[in-house]
Amino acid sequence: MPKILNRPTESSLMSNYSRSDLAFVSGKGVWLFDDKGKMFLDLASGIAVNSLGHSHPRLVKVLVDQGSKLWHTSNLYTVPNQEKLAKLLTNNTFAEKVFFTNSGAESVECAMKIARRFFFSIGQSERNRIISFDGAFHGRTMGTISAAGSRKLLEGFGPKLPGFDLIKNFSLESVEKRITRRTCAILVEPILGEGGIVPLTCPFLKGLKNLCEKYNLLLIFDEVQSGVGRSGHFLAHESCEVTPDIVAMAKGLGNGFPIGACLATKKVAACMVPGTHGSTYGGNPLGCAVALETTKHILKPNFLSTIRKKGHFFKEKLNDLLDIFPDQIIEVRGEGLMLGLKCAGKNVDLVEMCREEKLLLVPAASNTVRILPPLIITYREIEEAIMRLKRAFLKMRK
Ligand SMILES: Cc1ncc(COP(=O)(O)O)c(C=O)c1O
Repeated sequence: MPKILNRPTESSLMSNYSRSDLAFVSGKGVWLFDDKGKMFLDLASGIAVNSLGHSHPRLVKVLVDQGSKLWHTSNLYTVPNQEKLAKLLTNNTFAEKVFFTNSGAESVECAMKIARRFFFSIGQSERNRIISFDGAFHGRTMGTISAAGSRKLLEGFGPKLPGFDLIKNFSLESVEKRITRRTCAILVEPILGEGGIVPLTCPFLKGLKNLCEKYNLLLIFDEVQSGVGRSGHFLAHESCEVTPDIVAMAKGLGNGFPIGACLATKKVAACMVPGTHGSTYGGNPLGCAVALETTKHILKPNFLSTIRKKGHFFKEKLNDLLDIFPDQIIEVRGEGLMLGLKCAGKNVDLVEMCREEKLLLVPAASNTVRILPPLIITYREIEEAIMRLKRAFLKMRK
């Protein structure tokens, strides 16, 4: 007997998101259209996902072509586009080996597993503790919430998994003090995303690398949000010339098709022998076809330098807004098209007011809003976004 619903208007979705009523039905470039025909300028990109915007014609074609040929086989067989995508990634980054996942959290899980397994494989299995940072975000699995360690993420989900040493500030001295004979890796986002768009400095990242060399640890960068061109470099750490051992990626890689990747050096990845790790869907033909096309586009000559230029332009305009509204903006920060405004008032109020101006932003921690437009945004669209932001600030002032 089917259950009779006594509250037919109540959503059947779990309530772990406080969703807005906005329902988008289509998109083109940086624009989204809702079910009432209203047009929104998207500076959220599904939280740093739609790197080439909505309905990119090349990506639609690739997805439809692959969809009409083959959706899924298994990692038991060779997936030709998986091989090609891995080669493209290794040819253009520090990495020599890749494992494909379906999400950011899975990529970070894979990175942490590789770090522990590496030391196991060289007979040092007691080295299994990972140093991580307060204020970071690495996903929502038990491992990744334990790594980030914040009360907000862990509340009600205890016990927290052991094996993480949380550093309360971004000080090299504090990190060095926490290193013991049991430490295997340091895990950090080069630019904190959920934490409020906080780019870590090159001296700090280089300092972490030096500590890793001094104590024979692995350096893991979580580039799930900052990667795939978002910062104006293919991977954000490249601007600092620091070489990690492992990198977690996802978000922008598939432009909205769920795919992530864990990248590593050959030396470190050698421990991942058959049977150690796997994924049913990771690296599936659909995801790899779209991610291959997305990555090729992002690696085209001048694409990354154009992101840097647009990022400078956007940041300059945001700093002009700061001059006009010092009562509402405390700071403009970020790299490339991964930008943030630290608000004087409540960040969620700004997000709400911008929605009224048909401009989409994302709130983050430390009272910031994130500005993460599709990387193909034009200068005119940036100016349009600034105009809408200005209107929102003026209304808020009233
Ligand atoms: C830096 C970082 N790591 C990991 C994740 C988790 O990614 P996902 O939600 O795809 O699991 C996120 C998501 O916001 C992120 O920003």
